[in-house]
Amino acid sequence: MTRIALTIEGYDWHARALTAAFATLGATVVRLHLDSCGFATGHPTGLDLPGFADAPPDAVLVREMAGGSFEQVTRRLGVLHALSALGVPVWNDARAIERCVDKSMTSFLLAHAGVPTPDTWTVEGIERARAVFAAAGGTLVLKPLFGAQGKGLRRIETVDDLPEPATVAGVYYLQRHIASGGEGFRDHRVFVCGGEVLAAMTRRGAFWITNIKQGGTPEPLLPDREMTEVALRAAAAVGASYAGVDLLRDRDGRLWVLEVNSMPAWRGLQRVADVNVAMRLAAAVLTAVRAR
Ligand SMILES: Nc1ncnc2c1ncn2[C@@H]1O[C@H](COP(=O)(O)OP(=O)(O)O)[C@@H](O)[C@H]1O
Ligand SMILES: [Mg+2]
Repeated sequence: MTRIALTIEGYDWHARALTAAFATLGATVVRLHLDSCGFATGHPTGLDLPGFADAPPDAVLVREMAGGSFEQVTRRLGVLHALSALGVPVWNDARAIERCVDKSMTSFLLAHAGVPTPDTWTVEGIERARAVFAAAGGTLVLKPLFGAQGKGLRRIETVDDLPEPATVAGVYYLQRHIASGGEGFRDHRVFVCGGEVLAAMTRRGAFWITNIKQGGTPEPLLPDREMTEVALRAAAAVGASYAGVDLLRDRDGRLWVLEVNSMPAWRGLQRVADVNVAMRLAAAVLTAVRAR
């Protein structure tokens, strides 16, 4: 029996959908809390994973990873790195997670790969942030370096909008603000999996932050060729096996990648998608297992 380790904090909607999807496809899901997974060098695999005493999992699907101290997060990512070193398919692997959690590295890799993304600067200290603002000319968006769900973003319209360093953990991640085209505020989420686009949505917001968690409304979207190609290139640039790519089309019709998520939720997306995202994701993981 194929056994998939699903890293998850609670037994939420996503966990239930994935457990059902894998069961339909003949695989068993074992839920793992990364904090309870240990290194144990005397063990045949060098790891002590609850529920996997005899053999490592056939694959790992990383749905969530809890925050913690620098040491705790490093150790949990270390467990994922170790599983990859053992040859276990890990979706997403620690390298891709690291590259997406740190928005500055995502931006660097997108720009490096020639994927259209707004100009972005990441600096330490408010003086350097002020210098960036002065040189950029125009509105910037300040984001928490490790942020998600639209939390903690600010529009920087004047130099006085820059907050004290303590509010941003000493790091200013500043991205050129891009106004979306069309009526109101909207951007797009494209769900990439195994080198394909599975589903996509437009998110319409009452204000400029369109995340579903911030009250954004999902609308069905059939991505065009350009959007599909840009989303696939963005996921590839960070090395993600699956990803939620956030894109915005500006008033001139130009497409920009705002960020790439290595642990994307899809509850909002599923409301408007015509495929079962959990089923397609589970099927792609099992394809990777068979390809091993
Ligand atoms: N550079 C930008 N220009 C305009 N709007 C932006 C920009 N960056 C982010 N946003 C808005 O804020 C939302 C959240 O930003 P995002 O970079 O996706 O961070 P998070 O990880 O919090 O989702 C985006 O979906 C978009 O609506
Ligand atoms: Mg986002």
